Amino acid sequence: METKILPVKQGSKTLYDIVITEGMKDLHAYLENFGSKERTVVIITDSNVDPLYGEKLVKSITKDCKEVIKFVLPAGETNKNLSTIESAYEFLIENHVTRSGLLIALGGGVVGDMTGFIAATYLRGIDYIQIPTTLLAQVDSSVGGKTGVDFKQYKNMIGAFNMPLLVYMDLGMLKSLDDRQFASGFAETMKYGLIKDAKFYSWLIENYYEIEERDPEILSQMIYTSCDWKRKVVEKDPTEKGDRALLNFGHTIGHAIEKAKNFEMLHGECVALGSVCAAFISYKHGYMDKDEFLEIRDMFVPFHLPISITDLDEQEVLRNTYSDKKVSDKERKFILLKHIGRSFIDTTVTDEDILDALKEVIYKPGED
Ligand SMILES: NC(=O)c1ccc[n+]([C@@H]2O[C@H](COP(=O)([O-])OP(=O)(O)OC[C@H]3O[C@@H](n4cnc5c(N)ncnc54)[C@H](O)[C@@H]3O)[C@@H](O)[C@H]2O)c1
Ligand SMILES: [Zn+2]
Repeated sequence: METKILPVKQGSKTLYDIVITEGMKDLHAYLENFGSKERTVVIITDSNVDPLYGEKLVKSITKDCKEVIKFVLPAGETNKNLSTIESAYEFLIENHVTRSGLLIALGGGVVGDMTGFIAATYLRGIDYIQIPTTLLAQVDSSVGGKTGVDFKQYKNMIGAFNMPLLVYMDLGMLKSLDDRQFASGFAETMKYGLIKDAKFYSWLIENYYEIEERDPEILSQMIYTSCDWKRKVVEKDPTEKGDRALLNFGHTIGHAIEKAKNFEMLHGECVALGSVCAAFISYKHGYMDKDEFLEIRDMFVPFHLPISITDLDEQEVLRNTYSDKKVSDKERKFILLKHIGRSFIDTTVTDEDILDALKEVIYKPGED
């Protein structure tokens, strides 16, 4: 597999590279460039990823760094909170990590979001690198510099924009990812096709079998195109004043479902359901015909993502859409589609639209 590099820019200046490759070989030169020989490097990972790749990474970069230490967080979204962050601060202080320290996030979106937040706040800011290990983190969360934690029942409520020095992905690491997590990440990939790129959407469908088989060449292209879209969107609007909101397609209702289900479903599964709802509302508002809505809905099925759900209270989901932090003064910004590949921000979506859309996905046994 050929290494692909995508620079993320601000104006003419490159902020950081996204490297899509197999193996760790290209990482050494980057570390050397960041002066790692003089720096303490702290790998932050989680309890699932550590036994798979933690020690391997320590071994592989020890010769490039002054010192390498590792901190293992308990895995899972329920640990994405301030008390885990506190334990990481303690570890850094006890190990005398100074401003010149360099953090490496080795893990999925949870590790990436938390490490980026630790890097933003420890000693008023130190450098960090993302090594995303889930599909979701590779195509979405590792790019764009949004970092943070959940607070009480509010998702990603506390955080900071903080750009990494580098996003480095070894696609070989996806081999150990289970099918459900893979599908969850795929929902975000599908999102780029739906909101920005009809050709990419068709390409995903044409390459269904290769994606299922996790063919390295096809995955590398798929991840490249996804990162390229994320890059373009965040370059244009780094702090979500405008178009970056398009990336929230499927997420207003998706997050609300995630919350109603107490975070027992995976993020991408809820995003798939939220996307079906958003496509339905787009159809209801006259932006696409019914066939196009049905096509979008049914396309999630072969990729092992849900398009219907049981045991969900639509009123609760509706209430949750208001507690989403992206709702300003009760005005809900909703992302709709003008056909596949074109999205826009809409503020006219009503409670009734949302309830109607939820009826499309909530399956009540006994009803057809
Ligand atoms: N910052 C952003 O812009 C952004 C965007 C989207 C999502 N997110 C955040 O990302 C998080 C979700 O990320 P996620 O889906 O990667 O979840 P995750 O980090 O919890 O990873 C999912 C599971 O897979 C395990 N895992 C990770 N890599 C593995 C591998 N290579 N092999 C086997 N198992 C592996 C993890 O230990 C975990 O159990 C959420 O907290 C969400 O808020 C952030
Ligand atoms: Zn998402």
